Amino acid sequence: MCGIVGYIGEQDATSILLNGLKRLEYRGYDSAGVAVVNGGLTVKKRVGKVSVLDRVLQTEPVSGTVGIGHTRWATHGAPNDLNAHPHTDEDGEIALIHNGIIENYAALKKKLAADGYTFRSETDTEVLVVLIRAFYDELGDMAKAFRYALKQVVGAYGIAMVSAFDPNRLYVARNGSPLAIGIGDGEFIVASDASAIVQHTRQVVYLDDGEMAVIERDRYVTKRIDDDTTVDKEVEEVEFDLAEIEKGGYDHFMLKEIFEQPETIRNAMRGRLDSEASTVRLGGLMNVIDRLRDAQRLIIVGCGTSFHAGLVGEYLIEGLAGIPVEVEYASEFRYRDPIITKDDIVIAISQSGETSDTLAALREAKRRGAMTLGIVNVVGSSIARETDAGVYSHAGPEIGVASTKAFTSQLMVLALMAVKLARMKRMSASEGEAVLAALRELPEKVEYALSRHEQIQEIAKAYAQAPNFLYLGRGYNYPVALEGALKLKEISYIHAEGYPAAEMKHGPIALIDENMPVVFIAAQDGVYNKVVSNIEEVRARNGRVIAITNEGNQQIEGLAEHVIYVPETLPFLSPIINVLPLQLLSYYMAVERGCNVDQPRNLAKSVTVE
Ligand code: M6R
Repeated sequence: MCGIVGYIGEQDATSILLNGLKRLEYRGYDSAGVAVVNGGLTVKKRVGKVSVLDRVLQTEPVSGTVGIGHTRWATHGAPNDLNAHPHTDEDGEIALIHNGIIENYAALKKKLAADGYTFRSETDTEVLVVLIRAFYDELGDMAKAFRYALKQVVGAYGIAMVSAFDPNRLYVARNGSPLAIGIGDGEFIVASDASAIVQHTRQVVYLDDGEMAVIERDRYVTKRIDDDTTVDKEVEEVEFDLAEIEKGGYDHFMLKEIFEQPETIRNAMRGRLDSEASTVRLGGLMNVIDRLRDAQRLIIVGCGTSFHAGLVGEYLIEGLAGIPVEVEYASEFRYRDPIITKDDIVIAISQSGETSDTLAALREAKRRGAMTLGIVNVVGSSIARETDAGVYSHAGPEIGVASTKAFTSQLMVLALMAVKLARMKRMSASEGEAVLAALRELPEKVEYALSRHEQIQEIAKAYAQAPNFLYLGRGYNYPVALEGALKLKEISYIHAEGYPAAEMKHGPIALIDENMPVVFIAAQDGVYNKVVSNIEEVRARNGRVIAITNEGNQQIEGLAEHVIYVPETLPFLSPIINVLPLQLLSYYMAVERGCNVDQPRNLAKSVTVE
């Protein structure tokens, strides 16, 4: 949520900031702006996408070698020029960008106003920069002013600041919202994630909560905000390549990421299949695997698509390994005073590793003494660092706001975990061998399922104007129905609901008429015949059925208006294949409707506010 970038070095800051903002735009796209030190401070900011700011900067160039840039996902105040970041103090001598929420901004604003300070915007961020100015007026020391102001702030932030008073320094801080410092040769580039840094350097330092850094061209110092003590930070290497964060010839990141899935699924199991022992090897869980095996209960927390992966995880781990699992929205878990004991294991699932609610749920679980595990995609992210152990999903950078490849990689990791635990408990070696064989075949099957994209594009054309959709599935494919509905909602703005198929008759069936498309996930598994009955019920009410089923299942032809065939696999792996047509359907529907696929309205990739 909100992209932050900052630069200090010898090069032209504006172009580096703009490039960084383009890479970070998936984090928010309500407005964009830069502030560059050049004698004084020049600020340019506009409502709209980074491209709008880009055009402004072409006609009104700003030069300088120190600056900050921001792309906004609005929290306080409507998206407009005035509320766009950077924000400055009244005299325009200190500029600040912020990702997060200052919760006590109203009280701070009242006090500052009483002291004679004035405000132009409706944002919480402006209050913070004015507070820094107030401390600077009192102390005449920018580092102190920055730190003292932050000590008064309650809330979450990743911030960067430049000032005309201190033109050769860049200030950054973090509390709850990510911030990385890229270390170049005589230059530093800071950003809310490494995608804006990797073009310049692979060496990064990730700030932890409660830390700040003062950066000059040839050095930086990291400190604790509360007591000013210096912290030695480990320099880490960014693993991904530039090509991974570019579109590579596809029209949209989402489409590219959908088609990357044969490879990302391969990556999720690379080095993790142990043929000799007919089991799975998960290095990240090595030290905790016995505790996992003996756990009385696992609790999975996540949000959005990651929550849906968790639901599949529940079916997987209970079904294969016989360990009780509960799945909860992280946002509910964190505030509802959950009963957790030190015998519980809480598993946080997150693509970004930065989702505020998931991070808070994880911290709550820790506070109550539970062991915590992570299934995370972004290496070095907050959740990855704060969990006791975990497994990376290795999907590579996911830029499209709608999560696709990260979901199937999460499912892969959950399946691997379930198989590992099952083999330790009740799955025989020969069953293990069969599972490994099915896993090895999966990338090709995924590729085959994706090769059906033209048929799905045709279906999307036929239904692009439908106002509502229902998605129904059972068993392992019930969460897939939820995920299909979420995908459609978020990128094509069509109202869609996902349900366990049998629940339809307890309410949603009232919606069914000749205008209601109903997508059934009708995998030929133990509940297939039940799903067929549900299809009949929809047909009897003239609903328009789109069915996803296995190759060779001709029975369904007579029941559905459209049948999308996918390769068969083991039932517990079927969500990984069945979700693919749903991803493609939502993508093509959004394209047909002229929606901005990669940057759907009101959304942002990483939700770092509550
Ligand atoms: O980064 P996370 O996996 O923690 O993100 C959780 C959700 O915000 C995310 O899955 C969201 O629902 C996606 N936009 C769905 O496509």
